[in-house]
Amino acid sequence: MNITRIALAAAIALATASAPLAAQAQAKIKVGLMLPATGTFAALGTAIENGFRLYVDEQGGKLAGREIEFVRVDDESDPSKATDNVNKLIKRDNVDVIVGTVHSGVALAMARAVRESGTPLIVPNAGADAITGPLCAANIVRSSFSNWQPGFASGVMAAQKGYKRAVTIYWNYAAGQESAKGFTEAFEKGGGKVIKDLSLPFPNVEFQALLTEIAAQKPDVVFAFFAGGGAVKFVKDYDAAGLKKSVPLFGSGFLTDGTLEAQGASAQGLQTTLHYADSLDTPRNNAFRKSFALTYKQNADVYAVQGYDAAQILGAGLAAVKGDITKRDALTAAMRKVTVDSPRGKFTLSAAGNPVQDMYLREAKGLNNEYRAVAVKALADPARGCKL
Ligand code: PHB
Repeated sequence: MNITRIALAAAIALATASAPLAAQAQAKIKVGLMLPATGTFAALGTAIENGFRLYVDEQGGKLAGREIEFVRVDDESDPSKATDNVNKLIKRDNVDVIVGTVHSGVALAMARAVRESGTPLIVPNAGADAITGPLCAANIVRSSFSNWQPGFASGVMAAQKGYKRAVTIYWNYAAGQESAKGFTEAFEKGGGKVIKDLSLPFPNVEFQALLTEIAAQKPDVVFAFFAGGGAVKFVKDYDAAGLKKSVPLFGSGFLTDGTLEAQGASAQGLQTTLHYADSLDTPRNNAFRKSFALTYKQNADVYAVQGYDAAQILGAGLAAVKGDITKRDALTAAMRKVTVDSPRGKFTLSAAGNPVQDMYLREAKGLNNEYRAVAVKALADPARGCKL
């Protein structure tokens, strides 16, 4: 080859190598949204998606200069369909990043799938402890909580209030079991005793026999984990059974989040613990709630916040790699290092990828879960079993 031919070959090589890069710079980022659109958690999925979209819209529809395209899957909060559903996003749709989901059992299958594929995953709700415990991975972060966190904070508050005998009641799957475990850990450390665990399968709402059992046990306090449509029914049934007057009902804040309108008088005055309170009077929260209400004609709730923050985390990761989503290691490392300026207050992520955040005591008043106190400051999940 003479010099001209070498130069020509080099020029061609350069042109072909840079062509995909140029195309890539213009391509949209494909975000796989795997959320429930049907079933007892449907409203939670919608709030998460709306929160996510709100942040992207506030950035002019782009994150780090890249347009965002959504591919949506209704996971139905059904763990038996979870592996197929997540693999559709990974293998068929070739998404760049996955955001999902609400239900812990579904999210566990998603975590297993992305540990294999390497797809970045942002969990905008599901609290399954294992996701930032034994299943933790460099490409997985959470914008929400671990089930242990609000449960633990409830246990701290219940013990502080001087209650001694508690009954726990929950849906019998990871979220219910782990919330109750967190509650029990803190409550018993604080001098209380859990005298009975009551549960029913998800998403059943036949509470009557269990409420009769609570009345018979006469505990000082009840700790409950229910959410969405199931929480609406539980809170109403608890009241209708006459228990609201005789046994204080405590819980992870999901019990009254996004549900107050439907629960009506039955929820008024209930105290719960969570990493968000509607009435947090900060410029950040006020601006967020105003913008969310204007856009969606609906009040923001914790799920909307978690969706919004999932988009903030993705935005920070993408900014660090200048929009080049193929740089997965750098992207996910940057997502972990972010300090999120959340409507809930600023928070960071632990080494395991779970928010380290203040847990608030709230009280249901009208259509808001009002802030009452910080229950536990900067609570970090113990991340048991995470090797990162
Ligand atoms: C969960 O399954 O992890 C879960 C579902 C709904 C909530 C909270 C946790 O509100």
